[in-house]
This record gives sequence, structure tokens and C-alpha cells, in this order.
Amino acid sequence: MSQCTLAAAAKINLYLRILGLRGDGYHEVAMVLQSVNLRDTLHLTTQSRKDMSITCDHPQVPTDGTNLALKAAHLLAEAFPKQATGVHIHIEKQIPVAAGLAGGSSNGAAVLVGLNHLWGLGLTVPELQGFAAQLGSDMPFCVQGGTALGTGRGDILEPLPPVTGGAVVLAKFVNLSISTPWAYRTYSETFRHTFAEASAQESDHFVQVLASHSLAEIAAHLHNDFEKVVLPAHPEIAQLKQGFLDQGALGSLLSGSGPTVFALYSDATLAQPAVEQLRIDYPEVDFWVTEFCPWGVAMIQ
Ligand code: C5P
Repeated sequence: MSQCTLAAAAKINLYLRILGLRGDGYHEVAMVLQSVNLRDTLHLTTQSRKDMSITCDHPQVPTDGTNLALKAAHLLAEAFPKQATGVHIHIEKQIPVAAGLAGGSSNGAAVLVGLNHLWGLGLTVPELQGFAAQLGSDMPFCVQGGTALGTGRGDILEPLPPVTGGAVVLAKFVNLSISTPWAYRTYSETFRHTFAEASAQESDHFVQVLASHSLAEIAAHLHNDFEKVVLPAHPEIAQLKQGFLDQGALGSLLSGSGPTVFALYSDATLAQPAVEQLRIDYPEVDFWVTEFCPWGVAMIQ
């Protein structure tokens, strides 16, 4: 029996444009993905029985075949039947579930990295990302994490210089979740007329802003097309975003298709009192004060 423990980081989008609808039903996007230091912990233990099993300390996480961590284990086992063993996966959840923070994808990415190690497969990062792309559009990013430009359906990645410093606050209404397919579909139906003019080059300017390493500049240029459909449908999220700006945030944005909102502060000593006030104003919201993270998956043991 061998085992390993991995940390899997959540992700936010600092920039997200939806450029068009593709023939395969997915949307063409241009996005900047960024890992943040809110992590799940995964324990992987090989077992003599050939089967795969999973447990999680969070009741809302499915432990059936729909779990991306379990799907990742099955995918690698099918590709490498000689090296594969049975595996038990236990997930300690910190990343909120169905929140627009790629929690499930990061868990799947961690299993790919962990089994590559336990089974001695010797797969490279691009090879692991190839497997990840079969399971979800943002899972390839989660394998390497850090800061990256994502194009195609979000799975074609170009690493960008790391964003450092500052504090990142995440906030999520406890009882609210948003379906990503709903958000894409609604955006397409409402803004399809803009697709003809949309171009991946629109992200070039944001990438230049990132290179300035000025958090204030980055915060001033945050953009997420999903806000155009999610904020009108959920005015409470728009209010929360305004609440961050009223409490001195450099910038605030919906994360992915939501419902999580994030806010950037120049440092944690400014973020903490803002969050204390917002916790009073929004008792139905969970808050996390964290920071940018230069990796997606880290082997702890
Ligand atoms: O790839 P993933 O399974 O994470 O995507 C979930 C759903 O989000 C897809 O089934 C699709 O409806 C939508 N999606 C999309 N375009 C993308 C990524 C996701 O339409 N680029």
C-alpha cells in the first residue's frame, strides 16, 4: 500500500470574454485564469482490491461516478491498465462547492498528478493536461495553475508571469448556486449579435496590464462577460460586489459563472476590517481572505 497527500488550489478568472458558439456546443473564450490559496486536501491510498472508492468530509460533494476526482482515476486506469491499482481517495473540502471556483476540477487535476506519482507513469504536465481536457474545460489549467491565458474552450493554455502581492477576498452566498451551462446558454441567447465582432485579441490589452505588475491597474481592468447575465438575474450579487467597492477594494468581479464574487485589496491588513464590516452587512455570505497562488496542485507528502 502506498499513499500521497496533495493540495488542490481554487481558481478565479481575472478576465473572461465569451467570443462565440462553437460547432461542438462549447463556447470560444479568452480568459485569464488565476490560482488562489484556498485549497482542498486529497489523500490517495492504493488498495489491493482493483476498485476505486471516494469519501469526502463535505455532504454536498457527490461520491458516485459523477465526481471528477473519481472520473480522473478511472480515466488514467483505463489508459494504463498494467500500472493501475485500486485507489481510495479522501477529500477534505475547503473550496466551496458549485461556487465558480473550479473546486471539482482542481480535485480531478490533483488525482491525475497523484496517480502519475503513485503508479510511476512518468507523464509530463502537457500529457496530464491532455487527460484533464477530456474531463472538463478548466481542468487542464488546474493541473499547473498559477496565472495563464486560456483560449479555445478555456483548455488551450499559455502561462503568464505570476501575479503577486495583495489580498484576495472571496465571498459566496451560502445558499446560492449557478449552473455554468445555464450561464453560457443565457449569454449566447442574449449577446449572440456581438459574437461577429468579438476577437481573442481583446485579451491582449489585459495581458499587457498584467505585465505592469500593478495590482491597482489589474483591479481597474478586471472583466467578466458572465456579469451581464448573472448580475441582472441575481441583484444581491451585484450589491455584494458594490459592498466590496464601498469597503475600499481596488476592484471586484464575479468569479467564473458565479455565484462567488472576489475582491482585490492592496494587503490583508486593509482586507480584514473590510470583511469584518461585510460579515455584519451580509450574514448570509461566507467570506475567505486569501492570496494569489503560483501553483494548481502541490504534493504535500
Ligand atoms: O467543460 P465543462 O464540463 O466544465 O463545461 C460545463 C458546461 O459548460 C458545458 O457542458 C457547456 O455547456 C458549458 N461550457 C461552454 N463553453 C466552454 C466551457 C463550458 O459552453 N468554453
